[in-house]
Amino acid sequence: MIKAVIFDLDGVIVSTDEYHYQAWKQISDAEGIPFDREANERLRGVSRMESLELILEKASKRYTEEQKLALAERKNVIYRELLNRLSKTDILPGVMKLITALQERHVLTAIGSSSKNTPVILNKIGLENVFDAVVDGNDIKNSKPDPEVFLLAAERLRISPEDCIVVEDAEAGIAAARAAGMKTVGVGAAAGLSGLTVAALSLEGVSVQKII
Ligand code: BG6
Ligand code: MG
Repeated sequence: MIKAVIFDLDGVIVSTDEYHYQAWKQISDAEGIPFDREANERLRGVSRMESLELILEKASKRYTEEQKLALAERKNVIYRELLNRLSKTDILPGVMKLITALQERHVLTAIGSSSKNTPVILNKIGLENVFDAVVDGNDIKNSKPDPEVFLLAAERLRISPEDCIVVEDAEAGIAAARAAGMKTVGVGAAAGLSGLTVAALSLEGVSVQKII
């Protein structure tokens, strides 16, 4: 029986996945590294430094650890600038309706995100006090596809992993949920993956009855 729904943030609650792409694109272009939307798909759900490593696979020169840290910091400055535009109106379609329906049924909700910018984003979109637990990139050592973020969310909610379902737009996130022993809802980019409990292009097409 589903007792908790754990939501990814970027690309599920809000389309900040697009801002991640734009920020990495600026960095790659400035460094002369090939990077496009297809390459960007691999970065979904993956931590900032691991995302950079994936981008640098296509670089023609080697970067020192110090240079890598500087690039990641530059990307984050650009990304944070883009986040300044966020407001409540950027919450993706279907999200609020689903959260309200879950709360009415006393199903717990949590955020499980790899992003260290989660608190800033939740604050910008006015959802900082909505979830029963928030676990993000500041709380974990291992990024998705490692199950750490979702297992910690379940622990904070005091719900067994098998009674949780994860909503994700990333292949790495779906793999993390499975590794945690949780059910899966694949939305957007993850809707085409096989073996999902529920698949949908957007949360607008997902009724609460389908999830719980
Ligand atoms: C995830 C995104 O939610 O957060 C990744 O899908 C991103 O693309 C990761 O790299 C880390 O984000 P941040 O905000 O800590 O750089
Ligand atoms: Mg995501």
